[in-house]
Amino acid sequence: MLFKTLGQTDIEISAIGQGCGIHHSLSTREVYRQLESTIRAGIDMGMNFIDTAPVYGDGESEIVLGKALKGIRDRVVLATKVSPENLSIQGIEDSMKMSLCRLKTDRIDLLQIHWPNPQIPILETLRGLEKMVQEGLVRYVGLCNFSIKETQYIQQQLSPKLLASVQVEYNLFDRSIERDFLPLAQKSDISIIAYSPLHRGRIVANQKQWAILQGIASKYQKTPAQIVLRWLTKQQPVVVIPNTTNIQRVKENAESLNFDIEEEDIRCLEQKCRGHLLDVPPSSIQVADDSGRSVYRTLGEAMENAMKCVPSPQDLAKQIENGDFLKPVRLRPAGSSREKFELLEGRIRYWAWVIAHGFDKPLPALIEDYS
Ligand SMILES: NC(=O)c1ccc[n+]([C@@H]2O[C@H](COP(=O)([O-])OP(=O)(O)OC[C@H]3O[C@@H](n4cnc5c(N)ncnc54)[C@H](OP(=O)(O)O)[C@@H]3O)[C@@H](O)[C@H]2O)c1
Repeated sequence: MLFKTLGQTDIEISAIGQGCGIHHSLSTREVYRQLESTIRAGIDMGMNFIDTAPVYGDGESEIVLGKALKGIRDRVVLATKVSPENLSIQGIEDSMKMSLCRLKTDRIDLLQIHWPNPQIPILETLRGLEKMVQEGLVRYVGLCNFSIKETQYIQQQLSPKLLASVQVEYNLFDRSIERDFLPLAQKSDISIIAYSPLHRGRIVANQKQWAILQGIASKYQKTPAQIVLRWLTKQQPVVVIPNTTNIQRVKENAESLNFDIEEEDIRCLEQKCRGHLLDVPPSSIQVADDSGRSVYRTLGEAMENAMKCVPSPQDLAKQIENGDFLKPVRLRPAGSSREKFELLEGRIRYWAWVIAHGFDKPLPALIEDYS
């Protein structure tokens, strides 16, 4: 296993960690049991860095981890999160107490803000996090899903050693972070924790890219997933947290570091397997609902925010008006058309863009299944 230093701390974390996201609606007792044994197996293979959140499986992920880590807590670096609705000083304290109780531990190594909440002043949130550190319940702090501008502001407000990581999506398909987060992290000694490194199991965007990736994988006698994980972890501040409940895949992922990829193959991967970035007017995008997640279908619904999404479309619109856009939405062509698209991901970002700029100004999008 390859280990990297977490931010400017003295903690060493495995370049391949274990993501423990579970979707409550899909999970069964059997999945929880499998997760418990894959986590323990992963730790035995050297994957000491573990990422969870109170929201994963509505607390079940932390409960499973509490069982899996019984007697071996000191062998791992444990990262959890605090949800955006709990970012007040009191909210952080309450959320932490619940997490510690579910995880059956007395400290969290890395506490990350899961999503920003513009309704709660960020300085209050930072004071709440610092309080947890002073009380010895948390060792270091991290951010997830903040824009680059927000991250730079927070960096100025915290002591340099305290902010250890930013957790952002990074995979072959979505390489948005290479523009700003990667250089910032390299300059400031902050770890990048790459979530969804295998593009949520799809690995690439289409069959053509899959064939190219398989060609490279067979040259090294590796699997496509191993090539992608190796490519990501070659970059200095990057560690990855793939998620699986399959023991063979835990082993496969753990063994993705014992080889090197030649420059020409890296160039080929980066040029031919990247996501297709396009500016698309919102008027050409259908807001479909085949993901199992609820969506707003009209501008009025988005403005009302009856589902109480945090941040709300209106909050995010203000950020967009200030030229601060987190990352492209995901689309797929609608039928055989190259002019109409369906929205796959980024429901709040889509409506925030519409509130900020209307239906005609094109918004940045990554296109799946584009052959
Ligand atoms: N901070 C955030 O907002 C945020 C957002 C998303 C995710 N995360 C974190 O990142 C972790 C990982 O992200 P993710 O679950 O979205 O995406 P991911 O790790 O890219 O993909 C997970 C999928 O990949 C499959 N997989 C795992 N290893 C594989 C392999 N070797 N070959 C082929 N398929 C493989 C898994 O299927 P099987 O289970 O069937 O093996 C699973 O369906 C989460 O668990 C969570 O900790 C954080």
